[in-house]
Amino acid sequence: MENIKDVKLLDHPLILHKLRMIRDIKTEVKLFREVVDEISAMMAYEVLRNVELSECEVETPLGLMAKSYYIPDSIAIVPILRAGLGMVNGILKFVPMAKVGHIGIYRDHETLEPIEYYCKLPEDMDKKLCIVLDPMLATGGSAAFAIDLLKKSGTKNIKFVCLLSAPEGIRYLKEKHPDIEVYTACIDEKLNDAGYIVPGLGDAGDRFFGTK
Ligand code: PRP
Ligand code: URA
Repeated sequence: MENIKDVKLLDHPLILHKLRMIRDIKTEVKLFREVVDEISAMMAYEVLRNVELSECEVETPLGLMAKSYYIPDSIAIVPILRAGLGMVNGILKFVPMAKVGHIGIYRDHETLEPIEYYCKLPEDMDKKLCIVLDPMLATGGSAAFAIDLLKKSGTKNIKFVCLLSAPEGIRYLKEKHPDIEVYTACIDEKLNDAGYIVPGLGDAGDRFFGTK
């Protein structure tokens, strides 16, 4: 259970209220998209809590303030395709200067192993805070694989943000990458035999893009 305690659980009442909507089988694609966007924006507050600030002067109408702060543009947002795309705009609302990379991975339906099909990252990843987005952390295979790729590209400072997670996925990810911070809005009960999070919300990509 140690690895599970290590996770940052973002269970603010506003987030839990919204999570119910995306879990609901009756929620249609338009509302599903809007709510994923809203939850991601709310999570951004905590994910960015310790972001390093730069200092600068600012001139107010009443004079010069010697020490003011701004977030430097050394943030990279990296959604795992497809479903991670749904979380990008929620975070970008607060850090619109962030660069966006993409990692394309799908799970093989039989083996549940991650298969990579795309990777395009911003430059100088070694100097950036990298926020990896994927709504679902199930077996943890996709997240761990994406973080392997990022580390190979020199990325050192990585946070992984998901909406729902299974205990199995958290354990696996923390075992493979103990150095990264994991944020989740809820830790669900378990995985079913097909590797789906239970009770979960179903297939996040299909629900977000309306493909099923
Ligand atoms: C889903 C989800 C994660 C992955 C999680 O993607 O968005 O990337 O499964 O499962 P894991 O923790 O067991 O690896 P999926 O493979 O369905 O692809 P999609 O986003 O293109 O639908
Ligand atoms: N991927 C999903 O989209 N949903 C799950 O429950 C597990 C993996």
